[in-house]
Amino acid sequence: MKKVDLLNAERLLRAGEVVAIPTETVYGLGGWINSREGLEKIFATKERPFFDPLIVHVADIESAKNLTTNWTPLHDALARAAWPGPLTLIADKENSIDPLITSGLSSVGLRCPDHPLTLELLKKIEGGIAAPSANKFGKTSPTCAKHVSDEFNDSVSILDGGSCRVGIESTVAGVIGNLVEIYRPGFFTAAMLKDILNRAGISAEVKYAESPVAPGQLKHHYMPKIPLVIVPPDFHWEKDHQKIEAILGKKFHRPAFWDQPEKVELASRELYESLRSFDEKGHDIIVTKKLPLHESEEWFGIWNRLGKAKTATLI
Ligand code: TXA
Ligand code: MG
Repeated sequence: MKKVDLLNAERLLRAGEVVAIPTETVYGLGGWINSREGLEKIFATKERPFFDPLIVHVADIESAKNLTTNWTPLHDALARAAWPGPLTLIADKENSIDPLITSGLSSVGLRCPDHPLTLELLKKIEGGIAAPSANKFGKTSPTCAKHVSDEFNDSVSILDGGSCRVGIESTVAGVIGNLVEIYRPGFFTAAMLKDILNRAGISAEVKYAESPVAPGQLKHHYMPKIPLVIVPPDFHWEKDHQKIEAILGKKFHRPAFWDQPEKVELASRELYESLRSFDEKGHDIIVTKKLPLHESEEWFGIWNRLGKAKTATLI
């Protein structure tokens, strides 16, 4: 594994290299926002299409403000309550931001991550670090340094900050007047954002966007190497496996069952690690149940990822 310390991480970023950085959500593949070379390497390393914009990670609210032309009271209230933390805020972009970061959009995604190492790195390097999740495009996001080195065959320098506490990517939210729209669900739910705004004396509507407005929000994403199937609560492998085999057109002999922990925080921390480990243990299919408990809002983030990672559903 190509581990680097803070000093070398900073040096590499300034020299136009990419470095994998730890955050509380997932590991990011970072490039310095002022280095065209570094930004290009992010896309090349991930094999990511240029239409999918990158999130810019900043040290604090002041640094975020320098990158936008319309930091509204809503942005400010949300950032004050949620940062450092798993919330990405979309705002109109400052002219100086490289269009490669924003895929040519007039807005930019900004987030201050809650990880001591990356916060320290961000304080050293001016501007910010653009970083998508450190995985090949469309694949499962990494939640520890080993996932990153496996994904890129040891070719990427990694600032090792341990395992990610949250485990799924940040909530992405845009502000349109007095409306906050969630483009990607995550730890922060609509109810939580509304509550934050209320407490700041701002009455706003917060809702989930219906269609994928962000270019990167594709139908298939986060895919493990083996098929993932979502089944109803009363599913039994012995009795029901033919239904899956009929849909997928082949037989399976080594099913893995992901029993989701009842606590949403634990389930989200385990999600990507579980999907990867079933792959590695030689299973040929992953099965997970959708229970009534999973209908509530805190679970939207997990089910959004499972919905995109799945090959089929029996519900
Ligand atoms: O938790 C996270 O957000 C992680 C860590 C590394 O911070 N990063 C992450 O990046 O998940 P990525 O590239 O996998 O997802 C970024 C997504 C884009 O696909 C897009 O959907 C949305 O954020 N996004 C970025 N900029 C946007 C913009 N200007 N407008 C709308 N959506 C944007
Ligand atoms: Mg990603």
